[in-house]
Amino acid sequence: MTTAQALFRASTAALRRHGLLIVILLLLIGAYGVAAQGGGVVPPRRRRQVVDVGVILDTKTWVGNTSWTCMELALDDFYADASHARYRTRLKLHLRDTGPGAVDAASAGIDLLKNVRVQAIVGPQTSTQAKFLAELGNKSTVPIISFSADCPSRSGLTPYFIRTAWNDSSQAEAIASLVQKYNWREIVPVYEDDDDTNIKFIPDLIDALKQVDTRVSYRCKIHPSATEDDMKTAISNLKRNWTSVFVVRMSHTLAHKFFQLAKQEGMMSQGFVWITAYGLTDIFDVVGSPALDVMQGVLGVKPHVQDTVELQNFRQRWRRKYRLENPGTSLSELTVSGLYAYDTIWALALAAEKAGYVNSDFGPSLIKNASTDFDRIDTSKPAEKLRDALLKVNFLGISGKFHIENMQLVSSNYTIVNIVGQERREVGFWTPGSGISGSPKMKSDLNTIIWPGNNETAPRGWIFPTNKTLKIGMPVKPGFEEFVRFENGKATGFCVDVFEAVVKELSYEVPRRYLQFGDGEGSSNGTYDELVYETCKTISLHLFALKQNQTYFYVLLAEI
Ligand SMILES: *[C@@H]1O[C@H](CO)[C@@H](O)[C@H](O)[C@H]1NC(C)=O
Ligand SMILES: *[C@@H]1O[C@H](CO)[C@@H](O)[C@H](O)[C@H]1NC(C)=O
Ligand SMILES: *[C@@H]1O[C@H](CO)[C@@H](O)[C@H](O)[C@H]1NC(C)=O
Ligand SMILES: *[C@@H]1O[C@H](CO)[C@@H](O)[C@H](O)[C@H]1NC(C)=O
Ligand SMILES: *[C@@H]1O[C@H](CO)[C@@H](O)[C@H](O)[C@H]1NC(C)=O
Ligand SMILES: *[C@@H]1O[C@H](CO)[C@@H](O)[C@H](O)[C@H]1NC(C)=O
Ligand SMILES: *[C@@H]1O[C@H](CO)[C@@H](O)[C@H](O)[C@H]1NC(C)=O
Ligand SMILES: *[C@@H]1O[C@H](CO)[C@@H](O)[C@H](O)[C@H]1NC(C)=O
Ligand SMILES: *[C@@H]1O[C@H](CO)[C@@H](O)[C@H](O)[C@H]1NC(C)=O
Ligand SMILES: *[C@@H]1O[C@H](CO)[C@@H](O)[C@H](O)[C@H]1NC(C)=O
Repeated sequence: MTTAQALFRASTAALRRHGLLIVILLLLIGAYGVAAQGGGVVPPRRRRQVVDVGVILDTKTWVGNTSWTCMELALDDFYADASHARYRTRLKLHLRDTGPGAVDAASAGIDLLKNVRVQAIVGPQTSTQAKFLAELGNKSTVPIISFSADCPSRSGLTPYFIRTAWNDSSQAEAIASLVQKYNWREIVPVYEDDDDTNIKFIPDLIDALKQVDTRVSYRCKIHPSATEDDMKTAISNLKRNWTSVFVVRMSHTLAHKFFQLAKQEGMMSQGFVWITAYGLTDIFDVVGSPALDVMQGVLGVKPHVQDTVELQNFRQRWRRKYRLENPGTSLSELTVSGLYAYDTIWALALAAEKAGYVNSDFGPSLIKNASTDFDRIDTSKPAEKLRDALLKVNFLGISGKFHIENMQLVSSNYTIVNIVGQERREVGFWTPGSGISGSPKMKSDLNTIIWPGNNETAPRGWIFPTNKTLKIGMPVKPGFEEFVRFENGKATGFCVDVFEAVVKELSYEVPRRYLQFGDGEGSSNGTYDELVYETCKTISLHLFALKQNQTYFYVLLAEI
């Protein structure tokens, strides 16, 4: 019973005795109503509509347990906000800690839909979990909402799978701009291969690179359950090739092992470039020193989040709560995924209020006679209303502008970070309109990057594979000795001098060897075509364009 009702009841007893009192009491009730409802005329007896929302997370992972703390804070903050005090709906979260398995996540999903009758499910962290849940969501018309970067957009192309994270492809463009800036001609994507069809990022990356004339001729896939030996094999394959620019997208547990092995193989040293996609960059903030020790010089892209006063306050409150609930944690910083989790709950709470529920929406459902639990799941009318409202929500969240388009959060600027010591230095920004810059405010050069091998000189993007030399076939032609001559194992002549002069101008060593193509009797052992064929038949050729000033040098390299 509210105070207003109590006053009213007391006043009815008094009514019969004192006519005057009524007037005063009515005035009092009126004043109370105005204060409590902020001017609105809301019937005092109306109950708040509880909107149940399922949360499926693996709280043994960083993404899982940091984001859960964020979600709880979001709920507290939302309803503590004076402007939401008279909202007639209340979100209620139901956490199911499922671990990483797809089956566990699916059965938690069925339980939430059937028994709790949730209006939305937030959280699948992996693409396999998302695939199952997306199907459940489509069947029951309940929105499945994923804020995790590791959950690619192709997981569930249903109208009920919503990603409250940025479009993966937008970072592909940011990476391509970075590659273009340093004029790297070829890169190798290294990625976790959990389900080939899920990785939309790779084709998007290749498309974006094509726009800047960079090739991808080899991809390195790592299976999620790869053993150490599998990874070592993959790494030594990388090492055997020319390209030394790698773009890495994988979960952080796998990445941690991978970078350890790459370091052992000497691939975290001078000449190599490692760029991480945002799901991995994000986790740098959490894992701290053990991972950073093996990732010196790595560059990462991650969504740019404006550093506002609200955000700083939130970080503080979050840290306090997280440390309280996870004593002894080594955690250092909040991730962007955590901010998305916060904004997702905020958005759902807004959407619930705007959904325009009516009482009959929440009536009991028919009991279906079906063979499996899956078939017995009913479609949900209020969930459909919630979904429609969520897709229209538009506000300034803690991670930035929150607005969904094409079932994803609208993306914008990226930050480029560089791992130096225990620091994650912001070295640049990428904006969709103007590309790479050192500052978000104006066009400027990137801040100093410390590359692998602790060097400030940008790597040229390719290296001579170990034990490979450039093999140069020389024709033998009587009468043209001033052009090419091979004498006592030494190549001389005008052509050789020009070639040597060019090689000397290059800023790096070219291990090379001249081979005579003769018949042993002072003549060529065949035509030029045969020379090329003989020299090249067991080797592969690489053409590299090196830009020096405004001039391109084309260098033909051959592997023996
Ligand atoms: C949070 O995740 C980390 C990383 O897996 C784990 O070490 C930690 O124990 C987790 N915390 C809780 C409370 O489960
Ligand atoms: C989603 O559900 C609708 C209606 O039940 C069905 O026609 C459609 O094929 C489903 N889509 C997917 C991707 O499962
Ligand atoms: C993601 O972004 C890319 C390029 O920025 C665009 O082509 C694609 O349509 C977007 N995907 C969605 C689902 O919005
Ligand atoms: C090396 O590069 C060649 C051509 O550039 C490619 O065909 C081959 O698959 C690559 N192999 C590895 C192990 O990188
Ligand atoms: C439910 O299904 C069972 C077996 O499939 C059938 O025998 C029964 O008649 C069905 N009941 C209704 C109400 O349809
Ligand atoms: C992205 O960067 C541009 C240029 O600095 C800025 O005008 C714009 O407001 C930024 N967008 C967001 C969402 O921060
Ligand atoms: C950095 O790299 C450049 C070019 O590869 C090299 O000349 C220079 O000596 C390196 N500097 C250090 C400190 O290793
Ligand atoms: C390079 O050559 C040396 C000696 O010829 C050999 O021991 C080594 O295994 C070779 N390395 C590779 C990567 O082939
Ligand atoms: C000349 O070429 C033939 C085949 O093309 C080869 O068998 C022969 O060994 C070559 N002679 C010399 C001296 O290399
Ligand atoms: C190349 O650039 C350097 C300085 O960056 C300049 O001194 C030199 O003249 C340029 N060479 C040509 C051929 O333009």
